Amino acid sequence: MNEKYWMWRETGVSAYELTPQEALAEAIENNLIREAFQVIGQGKEAFVCWGIDEEERQIALKSYKIYRTTHRQRINNTSRISPYQVIKQFAKLEFYKTLDLFELKLPVPQPYKWHDFSFSMELIGDNAGPSPLLKDFSKEYFDDPSELMEKCIDFLYDIFQLHYVHGDFSEHNIILHNEEIVVIDFLQTKKFALKDSIDGGSKLIPLTRAYRILQRDVNAILTYFKRCHRLQADQNEVLDYITGDIKNKIEKELELKHEMSY
Ligand SMILES: Nc1ncnc2c1ncn2[C@@H]1O[C@H](COP(=O)(O)OP(=O)(O)OP(=O)(O)O)[C@@H](O)[C@H]1O
Ligand SMILES: [Mg+2]
Repeated sequence: MNEKYWMWRETGVSAYELTPQEALAEAIENNLIREAFQVIGQGKEAFVCWGIDEEERQIALKSYKIYRTTHRQRINNTSRISPYQVIKQFAKLEFYKTLDLFELKLPVPQPYKWHDFSFSMELIGDNAGPSPLLKDFSKEYFDDPSELMEKCIDFLYDIFQLHYVHGDFSEHNIILHNEEIVVIDFLQTKKFALKDSIDGGSKLIPLTRAYRILQRDVNAILTYFKRCHRLQADQNEVLDYITGDIKNKIEKELELKHEMSY
């Protein structure tokens, strides 16, 4: 760790972007990972590393980097806290959301440990490394892509019926492992209330906001299947299926909103 980094960490004054080496050094110190093999994902906000932990488990370590403006927009009231506190909050949020979904038996990686701006989770893959994302498969690979589309829609159904929306559902966040889908990347995931009026302190988002997020998720995945596999699905029919009995409540809230706007 260099001096500039520690200064920044203590004071939160200057913006500084962590390198994978720095994040790894800290994760090793905190017993999240014992040995790192390879960086497997390097995005704008986080990087993911494949390695092994103290218990000899194959893991994926996700570390958040310094915040950017998009981060700040996402979480309210963070403008006064240091960048370090923001990324720490992201790692903690994603760790616990993934844990909730894992405990609800959805096909997501099992989260192992969280510390500061990193968390470790089960590697979706094998001893040879991580399994590929849906976006990395050529269309010729699939004999019957409609089966895969059904699996994706069923995931959206299952998560919605448990009152969660993913928020960034697409071929970029779906790993294909042993012919099954495993979904990742839960920073934007939200739990919703079955109505729009919620208490100020509630961690739940209003129902119709969740519905808008669901519409985006459905649109993203149907666009992928249309573009890559020439599969057509009626977006409204898919939404009706996913929302099931909750659809009535959504319609009631939407009607109420419509009336209020007059
Ligand atoms: N548990 C896991 N097992 C295997 N690979 C994983 C796992 N978690 C993440 N990855 C890999 O790391 C990449 C980045 O992970 P993730 O989508 O959670 O982060 P991100 O912030 O969206 O990064 P990016 O901007 O690169 O998408 C994934 O696209 C995937 O290839
Ligand atoms: Mg991602």
